[in-house]
Amino acid sequence: MKSFPLEPIEKASIDELRSLQFKRLQSTLQHAYANSPVYRAKFDEAGVRPDDCKSLADLAKFPFTTKKDLRDSYPFGMFAVPREQCARIHASSGTTGKPTVVGYTKNDIDTWAGLVARSIRASGARPGDLVHVSYGYGLFTGGLGAHYGAEKLGLTVVPFGGGQTERQVQLINDFRPDIIMVTPSYMLAIADEFERQGLNPRDSSLRTGIFGAEPWTNDMRVKIETRMGIDAVDIYGLSEVMGPGVANECVETKDGPTIWEDHFYPEIIDPDTGELLPDGELGELVFTSLTKEALPIIRYRTRDLTRLLPGTARTMRRMEKITGRSDDMMIVRGVNVFPTQIEELLLKFAELAPHYQCILSKEGPLDALTVAVETRHDVAHDSSEALVAAERLAYEIKTYIGTSARIELRATGGVERSMGKAKRVVDLRK
Ligand code: DLL
Repeated sequence: MKSFPLEPIEKASIDELRSLQFKRLQSTLQHAYANSPVYRAKFDEAGVRPDDCKSLADLAKFPFTTKKDLRDSYPFGMFAVPREQCARIHASSGTTGKPTVVGYTKNDIDTWAGLVARSIRASGARPGDLVHVSYGYGLFTGGLGAHYGAEKLGLTVVPFGGGQTERQVQLINDFRPDIIMVTPSYMLAIADEFERQGLNPRDSSLRTGIFGAEPWTNDMRVKIETRMGIDAVDIYGLSEVMGPGVANECVETKDGPTIWEDHFYPEIIDPDTGELLPDGELGELVFTSLTKEALPIIRYRTRDLTRLLPGTARTMRRMEKITGRSDDMMIVRGVNVFPTQIEELLLKFAELAPHYQCILSKEGPLDALTVAVETRHDVAHDSSEALVAAERLAYEIKTYIGTSARIELRATGGVERSMGKAKRVVDLRK
């Protein structure tokens, strides 16, 4: 079977990689300080200069960047090049307040396309493959990010975007793609649509799914792989740092996304104190871009919780599959709960479908958690087997997570389908 060769840096030694990172870090710090008034002010306030960075470890002396910094300088205030030198702008919707705006020079777009191409290759792409892109196109980085990467790799791209699920299935049947790039939750909606049309999704031409943009568990991976008859690999990224393709799993190991460390330097910090944590410890992921021109990003606090792991399929380090972001953490009567913890438990029940939502409300002064979950299409939501499953799920949530939850069983279609990122938490307390 013909396959794509790796880039030399993917096979480089750790020493080579660290020395490249250090060189790139120094020039990124210089560039940010010289050309972005926001970074200059932040560095000055912290009393650090780019020259103070004499080793990779010195990065810890520099101040963090947060979403607030980007919001406060809305729309283009943090850019380190004149707006005219930007080839493209993206923005994340932001549930509150103004969107976060990011910019890319022509070189940034090329680098990004190269890293998504690398990601698709790591996912198991082969020359000649056809890629169906169901990530949303537009200001969201998913669609165009995937698109440029697939093109760069020389593959054929179908730029479908999100939505029109019935037609997605039709075109997958007719065009026979090898690869699909989509959020895992929307993949499930597409799988449902296959079945609704009387088709077995396992019989589709798809061989690989490249899933990201939202947290999903290893149990969800198994569910999707079995249902679709494909390899499901994890792609990670965020618009502030670039978009999809900051990290990607290698299909041969499927052990957490490999961080493309030649372009992004990762750190893990204690989210409460900001203190740097050693590799292997769980904390908040922080990224520094090493090659970005339009919007260099220094120590960006992602709010994603994970740990750094040693390289396996590549020299570069991996991140553990994201368990959740601090924004998604529910505090129910003092217990911290992530939707992924609920997901892990409910996927074990054959009577239940993988469509769920966590609803927070108030019962008097106390928090209450309701898990709305669909039963499998051939199990009635009010049948005794469904009720038994619900009771057992509530028991498991209490035992393993430590919080009481009411399980609300719904019939097929009763939980809102996402066409992009699934909304896992609905907070009715405010
Ligand atoms: O979601 C970029 C992207 C598009 C990644 C397509 C992968 C595929 P944002 O909209 O800025 O960018 O959202 C970024 O989404 O901080 C994580 O919380 C979450 N996220 C992204 N990928 C993953 C993943 C895109 N593989 C935020 N696993 C990030 C878990 C993910 N969470």
